[in-house]
Amino acid sequence: MDLSFILGELGEERENYFNAVSPPIMQTSNFAFRKVDDLGKAFADEMSTYLYSRGLNPTVDILRKKLAALDGAEDCLVFNNGAAALFAAVLANVKAGDHIVCVTKPYTWVQRMLDVILPRFGVSTTYVDGTVAENYFNATKPDTALYYLESPNSWDFALQDISAIAAFAKSKNITTLIDNSYCSPLYQQPVSMGIDISMQTATKYIGGHSDTLGGVLCGTKAMMKKIFDSEYNTIGSGIQPFNAWLLIRGLRTMRVRLETIFRSTREVVAFLKQHQKVESIIFPFDKGFPQYELAKKQMKDAGGLFTFIIKATKREEIVRFCESLQHILMAVSWGGHESLIIPKCAGISSGDFNPVDPMHRSVRMYVGLEEPAYLIADLEQALVKI
Ligand SMILES: Cc1ncc(COP(=O)(O)O)c(C=O)c1O
Repeated sequence: MDLSFILGELGEERENYFNAVSPPIMQTSNFAFRKVDDLGKAFADEMSTYLYSRGLNPTVDILRKKLAALDGAEDCLVFNNGAAALFAAVLANVKAGDHIVCVTKPYTWVQRMLDVILPRFGVSTTYVDGTVAENYFNATKPDTALYYLESPNSWDFALQDISAIAAFAKSKNITTLIDNSYCSPLYQQPVSMGIDISMQTATKYIGGHSDTLGGVLCGTKAMMKKIFDSEYNTIGSGIQPFNAWLLIRGLRTMRVRLETIFRSTREVVAFLKQHQKVESIIFPFDKGFPQYELAKKQMKDAGGLFTFIIKATKREEIVRFCESLQHILMAVSWGGHESLIIPKCAGISSGDFNPVDPMHRSVRMYVGLEEPAYLIADLEQALVKI
């Protein structure tokens, strides 16, 4: 399906709302029925009609159609944020006594779910270095129900061989779930590589303006219905119509924003790579990246996130660099219009700071929509203060 059609037209039935170019925000909790039998049908299968907006909502449905098509999937569910989407996807696919194999260092709140919440219900997890696909196979037990992937990871960008892991999982009847937030389906299509559930946080590139949250799951109709009929409706973490409308608006410009971001990122990376205060860069599309070939094979492009390691002997030097930036903001998240940094040492006290460990000296950067020269000038004046 043509990308322009998906982003600009798919799912939009304009004749139903006065040919308005922008769809209406169907801000309703409830839908009324004239016939008792129609109400009965809605009770029997809430995914077949509009009954109550904790389930389906017409504005959200426009977004669902676009996002399913973007991922090349049969269907899609959209949640209030990415963490909620991941929680629902995992919960729907495990039961007491089951085992999960998960890549090391998944997104913080996933780690919390696997380490703190799921063990209360008898679900255990083995973490593996996902850069070697065999580690998933070797950690598999008879009761392994789920493989959890995040490729690339959003700090060190470690990749997993998605097709190899998905093929092995299929042969063992194990469900696969990937956090595809780094690439978005524009730059990586896990469903076409055999993954059962492809997740992305819509808070990042889809929203694109740091003004709303959202989370996306894509997969087969059967998988989405399974999640809708249980976790989606019982936890009640579906997206609200206004936020869905913001995400539809974000989709209109997503392709051009990502293209600009990727182009600028290459310039900023090239600048930092040759800088005397920078030891190294971790960026999947950098030729020196250990999994560069795999990145080229399974990703179309790389987006705006990368990490650089500062040459420093004290935590204070990195603090000085970060606090000297005039335009690049220090904040979590990414995917918006504004460039950001986040230093690893924010979570490490001066006493525990170990300059020998490059990760302690690492700073994650996200390149937004500013001119690269503007960002480079800001980085330069802060780097000289180290
Ligand atoms: C890689 C990754 N996955 C999932 C999430 C969770 O998404 P959200 O913030 O929309 O809950 C984040 C948020 O930063 C993330 O970086």
